[in-house]
Amino acid sequence: MPEWLKDAVFYEIYPQSFNDSNGDGIGDIPGIIEALNYISDLGVSALWINPCFDSPFLDAGYDIRDYKKVAPRYGTNEDLILLFKEAHRRGIKVLLDLVPGHTSDQHPWFLESKKAEKNIYSDRYVWTSHAFEGIKDHPYISGMSERAGAYMLNFFASQPALNYGWLNRTEKWMSAADSPEAAATREAMKDVMRFWLDKGCDGFRVDMADSLVKNDDANKSATAAIWRNVREMLDKEYPEAAMVSEWSNPQQAINGGGFHMDFYLDHVGNGYNTLLRDYEKGGEDNSFFLSKGHGDIMRFLDDYLPKYNATKDRGYISMFTCNHDTPRPARTLSVPELKLFYAFLMTMPGVPFVYYGDEIGMRYLDVKTKEGGYQRTGSRTPMQWNHKDNYGFSSAAKEDLYLPMDESEDAPVVFDQVSAPDSLYRCLRRFIHFRRNNRDLWADIPLEILYAEKEKLPFVYRRGSLIMAVNPSLEEQSVHLSGASKLRRMEMIGKIRTEEDILYMEPQSFVILQ
Ligand code: NOJ
Repeated sequence: MPEWLKDAVFYEIYPQSFNDSNGDGIGDIPGIIEALNYISDLGVSALWINPCFDSPFLDAGYDIRDYKKVAPRYGTNEDLILLFKEAHRRGIKVLLDLVPGHTSDQHPWFLESKKAEKNIYSDRYVWTSHAFEGIKDHPYISGMSERAGAYMLNFFASQPALNYGWLNRTEKWMSAADSPEAAATREAMKDVMRFWLDKGCDGFRVDMADSLVKNDDANKSATAAIWRNVREMLDKEYPEAAMVSEWSNPQQAINGGGFHMDFYLDHVGNGYNTLLRDYEKGGEDNSFFLSKGHGDIMRFLDDYLPKYNATKDRGYISMFTCNHDTPRPARTLSVPELKLFYAFLMTMPGVPFVYYGDEIGMRYLDVKTKEGGYQRTGSRTPMQWNHKDNYGFSSAAKEDLYLPMDESEDAPVVFDQVSAPDSLYRCLRRFIHFRRNNRDLWADIPLEILYAEKEKLPFVYRRGSLIMAVNPSLEEQSVHLSGASKLRRMEMIGKIRTEEDILYMEPQSFVILQ
């Protein structure tokens, strides 16, 4: 386990929309390098950069054409290597996005695989044995190649599934999970990882990490076995490299697959979503952090605690403000509500992730789909840096921007918030710094619930010597807390007071006591 994860706070960058250094309307790697002082000031210690590799961009770069080449629109491999160096100089690690489940249908492996003549890439993807035979229960395409066969899709139509074999094999053409061709795909992915790790990258966020072996069992044990094999390689060759999975099942990903961290994704109705995206289930929004949500922390804890308890000795659950696939939290939460959510995020166990722009409360915009984003596009608009043209994102003409920007008069802007003491940015920065400066709040320090009752507030929890309490509602709340009046207030949002053994929390307040 890389030690540096213990006090890590990540910042996710969608490279298209972060900072455009050459005025072509799209963000780039030199633009990220220019922004490193800003990133370091925020207090985060690591970056996750969405795929920045050569691609036809039918899925925003998750359709990779060359794993080892930076997409020209973002710069060159040298630029990326310089980013590693400049980030490291500031104590910041950089994770790249590894997409192991599929490539673009323009990847040279696939172009070879499509050919009628047998070659070394024929079995790199999942193919049936003739063009009139489809794949039961899985998406596939046939009639698009001279090779007689249908190929399986892993996501969109442009993303053929790489072949890691099948656990439950029902057809002759299905490779076994322990076949030489499945092993060859796995080794090819290790080769990609070594390529970037040797150049200075610090690990990977792994796309659809649970999708490798087809017809896997309920525990995804064959897919997990591949990741354990990868972890063995990392432990031996790159013990400092970190891996975070897009899996959202920490028992499988961490305990089974040996991932260091697993994302708690926004799955409808799960514990994480009840905190801030309860609306995704339809009907009334009772998100815990919504002041009018009649917050019930038990809906979160009932789902979270079993996952946390089962994995806490082996790895970390990663909660995020949002990501490039989810609606931004500001879609429904106001700034005071966001502050409480961020304070909670920065005081929970595991490794937290902040999505670019959420530190200023960037909004979810109603924009036309771009590069296969569909409803995700609204969370992918350019960063609002300052009051110059295009909010300082780019010097390009407005119509040449990657995506339109927030036109509203009160659109949040970095420049304003950096200097406003009461801003969302300043609040988040305070809590990031507090977390990183207090060993009790690092990833591995146990969580103890002090007060959590169905439909009752506040929620009170302890980590080491620190006690946190949050009241997201619009009413004052109180709770019995032994020795409350003797505790020191270390950080606060809103107001609290104490009387002997009682903690009173004003509407929308958060406190860290010691
Ligand atoms: C998950 C990624 O986060 C998403 O953006 C992408 O479209 C799919 N995987 C396919 O790679």
